[in-house]
Parts: sequence; C-alpha cells; structure tokens
Amino acid sequence: MSQTNLQQEWLQQIQASEDLTILDDLRVHLLGKNGLVTQQLKTLGALAPEERKAKGAEINAIKDQIALAIEEKKTLLEAQALESRLDNEKIDITLPSRPESMGKIHPLSKAIQDITQYFSQVGFQVFDGPHIESQELNFDALNIPAHHPARQNHDTFYVAGSDEVLRTHTSPVQIRTLRNHKPPIRFLAPGRTFRSDYDATHTPMFHQIEGVVIEEGINFGHLKGTLIDFCRWFFENPNMNLRFRPSFFPFTEPSAEVDISWKNDKWLEVLGCGMIHPTVLQNCGVDPNQFQGFAFGMGAERLTMLKYGINDIRSFYDGDTRWLDLYGFGAQS
Ligand code: DAH
Repeated sequence: MSQTNLQQEWLQQIQASEDLTILDDLRVHLLGKNGLVTQQLKTLGALAPEERKAKGAEINAIKDQIALAIEEKKTLLEAQALESRLDNEKIDITLPSRPESMGKIHPLSKAIQDITQYFSQVGFQVFDGPHIESQELNFDALNIPAHHPARQNHDTFYVAGSDEVLRTHTSPVQIRTLRNHKPPIRFLAPGRTFRSDYDATHTPMFHQIEGVVIEEGINFGHLKGTLIDFCRWFFENPNMNLRFRPSFFPFTEPSAEVDISWKNDKWLEVLGCGMIHPTVLQNCGVDPNQFQGFAFGMGAERLTMLKYGINDIRSFYDGDTRWLDLYGFGAQS
C-alpha cells in the first residue's frame, strides 16, 4: 500500500473510532514506541543522507497530521461523552415526590379548636390566665375558703416556698377577666390545669374549658339552652338527651352536673355548671343585683375521649406517632 493510501486509511480509522478507549489504542498502535509511524521513522537511519532528509520530513509531516487528527477526535469524543452523561443523569422534576409523613393535629387540639370556634360564633371572646396561680384566685375569690373540703378535693400541686399553686381548674380566669372587663360579657377560657392524680381517666396535667356569660336578666334557662345546643352539636346528635343533676360548687348557686345519655341509655357526666354565686360577682366588683350570669367548666380530654372513642387518657400524652396517625386530623379536616 502506498504511503498516501496508508495515511488515508489511518485517518479513516481515527474518524471511525467510537470511543476514547478505541482511539487511545489506535494512538499507541500508530504513534507509540513500537507504533507503525514510529517504526517508519526508525528506518530512516538506513537511508542515504539526501534521501533521509526528504523521507524524514515526509514521515514527520504524516506523524504531525495523525497526532492532530487524534487530538481533534479526542476533543470531539470527550464532548459527546459529557453530553450523553448530562442527558442520562437529568433529574425529572415532573415526577411526583415520594410520600412523606405530614404530621397530624392532635384530637385534643382539634376538639379545643372546634369548641372555641363554636362558642365564638355565639359571641364568646377567649381569655387565658397563668398556669401558676395565687391561692387567692384559684380558691378564695371563687368562694372556696381555706378550710373548705372543696380545697382538699382538688389534689393540688403547691409551689414550694410560695403561696402559689398550679391552677387546679380554669375557674380563676373568671376572676381575672371579670376584674378587668365589665359585663355584659361572654367568654371562654380554655387551658391547662393540674392535679396530682394518675390513672386511665386522670393525668396530672389536663385541660379544661371554662365558659362564662354575664348579662342583665340571665337565668338558668339560658344556661340549659346553651349547654344542650352545645352538646348536641359537639356529639353530632340533634336528639341527644341531657340531664342536669343538682350538685355543689362553691362558686355557683344553684349548681348542676350535666350528664349525656350515651349508648344503651347509660348516663355519662360531661361537665359542671351553675349560676354564678353572688359572692363571686362581688369579689370581682360586679353588682349581683344588676347582673346575673352562668358558668360552666368541662374537661377537654373527657369530651374528646367520648367523641372519638379513646379509652385511656394517658395515650394523649405518650407522644406515639402511630397513635396520632390513627386519631389525628389532617390540616384541612
Ligand atoms: N372548676 C370546676 C372543677 O374544676 C368545674 C366547674 C364547675 C366550673 C362549675 C364552672 C362551674 O365554671 O360553673 O371541678
């Protein structure tokens, strides 16, 4: 094969190389230490000086041309390899994301939110008070004197070295609010309360929802109507029967406990209520001859357990996400 033909064939082989490995093998085959072009250079020594010069220039030109062709082809193959990598490793952002745990709203939070919303629609504002409360507000101002048995019934947590307690009920918010806001007023006071008690229906920290209405001419009929409507709405049963059972609370007179008729006609207690005691009104600077009112206090956990069929109050506070997946609510529901 003539030199020109050989040269053409080598250039074609370079062009035909499909990847960088084949191209590099070809480079070694042509320009390597024992490569075909290198071998030709080695034959120059046997030639006469005149001939050697001309042949040498010719072979070196071929060598340069081949080296250049290999270099160009290499640049091209590298660019193609990069392009195909970019193509293959492309992230398809149109794919749906993997399912993620979204978290749930605790059934107790849901119940408190729902109840607050319900009462806000009939004109109740929302007030709060501190968890650490003076005995004056937690007991005395609510007409529970120091040696009254009702104080002992509360299983109170006392704060060491002070006159304060962890509030045993939300009722002190009645005093705080009425001392700062003049009636007529309707308000709700949901919040945390504390008693030293622990079993399937009691935890040392729990929640109550206090409700108060004080206006001129309020009577027990208003109290009954409000609570009957509320229970029928909350338990989603428009025919639910309620029983107002006479009871005693130092801060209401008369007082009642409310039972709802539950499955197979069992009566279940759900809250305490009554007409606000005149002494309590006076303790807040409200004239009992002008204003009358009613109040109620309900256990938020108890209402939630009844509504959603949860039978151990301690499960509310276990922090078990499997439980929350089962009983919790999505943000929209
Ligand atoms: N504070 C009472 C308790 O914790 C509940 C209660 C009963 C609140 C009657 C009231 C009420 O406002 O009128 O046992």
